[in-house]
Amino acid sequence: MSEEKVYPVPPAFAAKAHINETQYRDMYQRSIDDPDGFWGQQAEAFISWYKPWDKVLDWDFNEPRIEWFGGAELNASYNCIDRHLDTRGDQTAIVWEGDDPAQDKCITYNELHREVCSFSNVLKKRGVRKGDRVCIYMPMIPEAAYAMLACARIGAVHSVVFGGFSAESIKDRILDSDCRVVITADEGVRGGKAVALKAHTDKALEGCPDVHTVVVVRRTGGHIQWHEERDVWLHEIAATVDANCEPEHMSAEDPLFILYTSGSTGKPKGVLHTTGGYLLYAAMTHQYVFDYQDGETYWCTADVGWITGHTYIVYGPLANGAKTLMFEGIPTWPDASRFWQVCDKHQVTTFYTAPTAIRALMREGEGPVKKTSRSSLRLLGTVGEPINPEAWEWYYHVVGDGRCPIVDTWWQTETGGHMITPLPGAIATKPGSATVPFFGVAPALVDNEGKLLEGEAEGNLVITRPWPAMMRTVYGDHKRFKETYFSTYPGMYFSGDGARRDKDGYYWITGRVDDVLNVSGHRLGTAELESALVLHDAVAEAAVVGYPHDIKGQGIYAYVTLVKGIEPTDALKTELIKLVRNEIGPIATIDVLQWAPALPKTRSGKIMRRILRKIAANEIDSLGDTSTLADPGVVDELLANRAHQ
Ligand code: WT7
Repeated sequence: MSEEKVYPVPPAFAAKAHINETQYRDMYQRSIDDPDGFWGQQAEAFISWYKPWDKVLDWDFNEPRIEWFGGAELNASYNCIDRHLDTRGDQTAIVWEGDDPAQDKCITYNELHREVCSFSNVLKKRGVRKGDRVCIYMPMIPEAAYAMLACARIGAVHSVVFGGFSAESIKDRILDSDCRVVITADEGVRGGKAVALKAHTDKALEGCPDVHTVVVVRRTGGHIQWHEERDVWLHEIAATVDANCEPEHMSAEDPLFILYTSGSTGKPKGVLHTTGGYLLYAAMTHQYVFDYQDGETYWCTADVGWITGHTYIVYGPLANGAKTLMFEGIPTWPDASRFWQVCDKHQVTTFYTAPTAIRALMREGEGPVKKTSRSSLRLLGTVGEPINPEAWEWYYHVVGDGRCPIVDTWWQTETGGHMITPLPGAIATKPGSATVPFFGVAPALVDNEGKLLEGEAEGNLVITRPWPAMMRTVYGDHKRFKETYFSTYPGMYFSGDGARRDKDGYYWITGRVDDVLNVSGHRLGTAELESALVLHDAVAEAAVVGYPHDIKGQGIYAYVTLVKGIEPTDALKTELIKLVRNEIGPIATIDVLQWAPALPKTRSGKIMRRILRKIAANEIDSLGDTSTLADPGVVDELLANRAHQ
């Protein structure tokens, strides 16, 4: 490994930052030595509580049971809205930038309050009660945030489904958490094209007989089907309800939301987050990691359908009374300057995006960046996948003009917020490293037998103690929660990622060590993709692996064995690729599909994915030991028929 480059904290940045290096060291130490004292103090500083807690933390990673701020009461919507009204009611809460550069608007905290109260009363009018689950399938418009906050206000549990998912995926998620109400829009707009959200919802609901209400937001006015007894226009029903809605008093451990994410086996699981710990951690990481200062405009380019959007577009920034930008469009529409034009137009100070977007824009060259000013930018961030040092350097020098620190934030849907990340005023950065743990986070590396590794090492990344925003269970399946995260290395939370720790204690995430793919920062389970492929009558068996992809980080490589007697054709290939897209969504577009007369299996019948990964990555000189295969000849056949990448 070549000696890494180090970018020190700019002294002027450190001088004004919330946390400098000494403060980071002191606070981190205290957070580990005295977690109850540390978190109790932060909870008082960041959150308004109706009722204080009896106990800061109660936990057991073997059961597993995690309880933060037991006995305390609060409301997330109150914390994100009401408590700011006296001091910043007329300040902007959400800056919305439409797909069309001519469309934008600012929503003040007062307006946000009105909209969320009204939306809350709409939900109540349609029978939604505390504890009920509500599915939100929305484009990136302010109503998506109103809907989330309205659920939080009345104690309903939202389950946001990314607007790019298919009808089949929506159906599975609605059924798994028994949602009876769905909130959607007529259509979404992205890159100048309409997305048929209501039509997808209608199709999904053919399989969801218990859904009695679909609240529809009018975004485009495009033609949609209407089910009189089930569908209501938001603007029509909102005109019939009260303007005010008192927030429900929720227990700290009451569920706030469910968000589905892919794992190495089975269908996506419902990650359950609760109220007190999550909100505290969202607010605190937003303030410290982005060094958010009053009056700044902060922009996270994620979609609210992902955890990044939940924590760093909605809950974290709004809990802090910040100005959060919500962008409906895509980085390359109308052209590759869009991100930077939006930065100039709204004087964005903090810009947070995914490495895949950076790599895609990098390919367009410096021109589209350099024709914009970007002088308002102060801090850059990345999330979602490892960033290659080349993309990091381009982001730093070309986008940030060498002025802005970069925070490379490692975390997961399950962790609720940042886990390993620099604090920009405290930690010198190294391109490609997520650096050091956030307060209270205790990362460790273990070998495959679970032995803790000390000092410089490479291994499996685990977390040895709870942090406030960690998931509490898999919705409806606590056993799966335990099996997935606490059984591989008993007594520790297993992230599913591998990492290296260098001589300075910095972490370098090397990527997933399980059967999960990370395609353009989106998580996909190989098992889900395989299940979709075998739905086709012609398919006998399928195995899917990831391979290195210049832009997407990982691409999807599928090996397909056809039923005896069926001839492989290009038409069939196209059909299979389409099938998987229809089952899951466009993010699940197979990049390479190879016909496999047979798959390499051990004598006990287990597919040897290691070999399939090597072939997909073109690392055919280092296939490793193939002697345990039931039929080693299978490998030669796969090599001879390799598909083009
Ligand atoms: C997986 C989690 C965190 C919100 C977005 C994705 C990978 C995430 C980084 C990073 C290297 C990263 C990991 C992780 N990942 N951030 N900064 N460096 N890898 O959330 O869909 O739950 O995926 O994304 O592999 O396990 P997610």
